Amino acid sequence: MVNVDCLSYAGNEENLRSLENDSRLHFVKGNISDSDLISTLLKSFKPQAVLHFAAETHVDRSLCFPEQFIETNVMGTSRLLTACYDYWRGLPEPARQCFRFVHVSTDEVYGSLGPDDPPSGENSPYAPNSPYAASKAGSDHIVRAFHRSFGFPAMIVNATNLYGPYQFPEKFIPLTIINCIQGHSLPVYGDGLYSRDWLYVEDFCGAAAAVLKAGRPGEKYHAGGGNEKTNLEVVQAICAIFNEFRPDSICASRITFIEDRPGHDRRYHLDCSKIKKELGWFPAEPFLAGLRKTIRWYLEHPDWVRAATGAPYQKWIEMHYGFSSSRG
Ligand code: TYD
Repeated sequence: MVNVDCLSYAGNEENLRSLENDSRLHFVKGNISDSDLISTLLKSFKPQAVLHFAAETHVDRSLCFPEQFIETNVMGTSRLLTACYDYWRGLPEPARQCFRFVHVSTDEVYGSLGPDDPPSGENSPYAPNSPYAASKAGSDHIVRAFHRSFGFPAMIVNATNLYGPYQFPEKFIPLTIINCIQGHSLPVYGDGLYSRDWLYVEDFCGAAAAVLKAGRPGEKYHAGGGNEKTNLEVVQAICAIFNEFRPDSICASRITFIEDRPGHDRRYHLDCSKIKKELGWFPAEPFLAGLRKTIRWYLEHPDWVRAATGAPYQKWIEMHYGFSSSRG
């Protein structure tokens, strides 16, 4: 297996440490936009499949730097897809039949749902609201077009909000956990009643593997955790579990409502019946158990936390929240 990662600000070589001596894995520091590199790797390693996880993913950053999202998510996907398509075209027939490309996407492409709206299905219309969501929607359309126009065996898996160990602490759950650990305030946007469906990272890996193994080329599949929660419920659950580990903590008193995110989508929810029915995939991790594992992981990895929250992270926190996390 070849892992290509450009290790941008949210990446970290430490995350691969446990695989260091695994001779099945070959790590390459590189960018999906580097067509020459990708073509060379495809020629030398001759993969049977490509899983495309690479993306800029943080909505708040996309509001500050929209072009970076368009560059990586739209242009990067387009370049990766083109290189893979050229490779696939040159394969001998049996290998061409077996080859698969899995594109990882998000529930955000469907835009915001009302409180009583049914969950978004694979055929729901796209209505992306943030530059991030628009860039992922663009990439989904390009992947779809490569299948429809050229027969390229691509599939898309749209996931709900992921959480778990190793997640960069700009995202809501790891940000809240790290702020609990470091004794800082816990920022909640607006009224805190925005809701998301949370999926444990290992369950998502299972969904991507199920799509890779048995998904039908040209199809989309939704993967969600079945854990729809308001942000306030999430932060309160984190504080309650954190107190099991650190009974003297007063993190719940640090929940702070702050100015809302512009264009903040009220609710996302995916209908996941297709992947369950066709591929037999179900999420296994109950939300509170997944959250407990995640909190324990951050508590047990202070070196990782220290490295992830260095100067570039502090700069983002200051720019975005208007205060230095070192001052709480
Ligand atoms: P996030 O993890 O950024 O994922 P997404 O925006 O892709 O769903 O945010 C999850 C929810 O948490 C979202 O409704 C925004 C909210 N949120 C806060 O209330 N405070 C924060 O500091 C952050 C980062 C997010």
